Amino acid sequence: MIIDLDIKNSHYIEELEEKFPNIFSKFGIKNDFSNNPYTKYLVYLIDNHVVGFLNYYLIYDRIEIVEFNVLDFFQNKHIGSKLLEELIKLAVSKKLKNITLEVRVDNLKAIYIYKKYGFKEVSIRKKYYNDVDGILMEKELM
Ligand SMILES: CC(C)(COP(=O)(O)OP(=O)(O)OC[C@H]1O[C@@H](n2cnc3c(N)ncnc32)[C@H](O)[C@@H]1OP(=O)(O)O)[C@@H](O)C(=O)NCCC(=O)NCCS
Repeated sequence: MIIDLDIKNSHYIEELEEKFPNIFSKFGIKNDFSNNPYTKYLVYLIDNHVVGFLNYYLIYDRIEIVEFNVLDFFQNKHIGSKLLEELIKLAVSKKLKNITLEVRVDNLKAIYIYKKYGFKEVSIRKKYYNDVDGILMEKELM
């Protein structure tokens, strides 16, 4: 089951922060909701527990994917694919122009999944991840 996270949902917010400490030690989700009117989270639940999420910014007529993660134990079970499908469905229903993201050049699995869903490589961002280049990818919707 995929939910659209709400700031009032403290239970899932705490679980997300606990299960993905590398990401959320940098910023808290409630803080993100309070300071960033564009931020949104799709959260994948199994038996009412968080196993993955996709954080994106909905900026007027486009979407930027910010974080996209599935717990190690649950990877390669198409949970990431389902989260991405949900995001694309949402973007199409809102008649948005595009979805963009940056990915490390060496993250072959993520690049594979994005391409599977029609994202194209637009440009290389030199040293975007400290010493590793990033690829700007885009899925055009219109
Ligand atoms: C990227 C991520 C969210 C994908 O989630 P997931 O649930 O594991 O992905 P899925 O199970 O939906 O899809 C896996 C697909 O990748 C393929 N795959 C697995 N390892 C691969 C590799 N090393 N290279 C290429 N493809 C690979 C699988 O065969 C599968 O293909 P299929 O859909 O044709 O069957 C997850 O791996 C993750 O959290 N990674 C760490 C964080 C990260 O890199 N996030 C992306 C940042 S841009």
